[in-house]
Amino acid sequence: MQVPFLDLKAQYRAIKSEIHAAVSDVMENTAFAGGPFVAAFEKDFAAFCGCKHAIGVGNGTDALWLSLLALGIGSGDEVITVPNTFIATAEAITYCGATPVFADVEARTNNMDPALLKAAITKKTKAIIPVHLFGQPADMDPILAIAGEHGLCVIEDACQAHGAEYKGRKAGTLGDTGCFSFYPGKNLGAYGEAGAVVTNSDALAEKMRMFRDHGQAKKYHHGMIGWNARMDGIQGAVLSVKLKYLAAWNESRRKHAQEYTALLASEAAIVTPREEAYAKHVYHIYAVRSKERDRLMAALAEKGIACNIHYPVPIHLQEAYRSLNLGPGSFPVAEKCAAEYLSLPMYPELTSEQIAYVTDQIKAFK
Ligand SMILES: Cc1ncc(COP(=O)(O)O)c(C=O)c1O
Repeated sequence: MQVPFLDLKAQYRAIKSEIHAAVSDVMENTAFAGGPFVAAFEKDFAAFCGCKHAIGVGNGTDALWLSLLALGIGSGDEVITVPNTFIATAEAITYCGATPVFADVEARTNNMDPALLKAAITKKTKAIIPVHLFGQPADMDPILAIAGEHGLCVIEDACQAHGAEYKGRKAGTLGDTGCFSFYPGKNLGAYGEAGAVVTNSDALAEKMRMFRDHGQAKKYHHGMIGWNARMDGIQGAVLSVKLKYLAAWNESRRKHAQEYTALLASEAAIVTPREEAYAKHVYHIYAVRSKERDRLMAALAEKGIACNIHYPVPIHLQEAYRSLNLGPGSFPVAEKCAAEYLSLPMYPELTSEQIAYVTDQIKAFK
């Protein structure tokens, strides 16, 4: 049996006629850059999240960067985030002129540890970016309380957490802004690059809308120096179609996760992910931990099972961030995640037979 890590073709086949109709509509209207299809998606996505504004942008990295800029973060400022994330979280901080500062994650959730966050705050700290890793929200209440005490902004990196919930509220709507990536493999994925910022603040929304469109609110009248970070019309139309299925797709992921966890419960050498009481996890990634991760991954590959590693090198040990002078041992929990995490195949169309095959092969691994 072959089990791909991700099967985007299966999803495309299921919604092909709707997608083609939506893309054709964009073509007929020649509404390629921003425009009505993006606006319609923004309205629907804001409603889905239960918040006031959604601003469609080019990708999740833009979403983070625009959030930081709109909040006035810049040169000389520090922004605290976690080391076990995709590099975009740190890049956005660097590209607004600020310095990324890392706080290690909790061993239980592998999300931001509020106690370590507190310890990382300095006079220069201006913002916090918790990352809802793999689709499970970070413990936001203590993070928001610390932010409130110190007057810090909170930008949620919800790029892996479309539809996830924290105490019944959608991930991305708890901080000043929430940032989403619609990279094709995400729970809500575009057919190209796209992203969005959500916020309840009218002022931030206005700034980000202007910024993504060269600082203009009226064509060729530039009130500020902005950038081109617009979402394109085809992505808006595709995302509007796919958004209708997101809740059902997330439920399928949750069911698959339960099956994996139940079937692996007897494996002492495998640590399965757990859902916190405050969270609704949407399993963008289903990652187990194994001390024999690399050997296990190779053995599964030989059996036709494609796995992945998110992420093999934490940000503070990346060559790109060598200038921060943070060596091995700086963030032991994140470093352990990098050494032990193995992401198993996960997508809504995965079957119970495939899950049973994957877990059988894990059990057979010596
Ligand atoms: C946690 C996290 N942050 C940021 C990003 C950046 O999103 P994009 O690739 O759309 O720029 C991603 C995407 O992989 C991500 O997983």
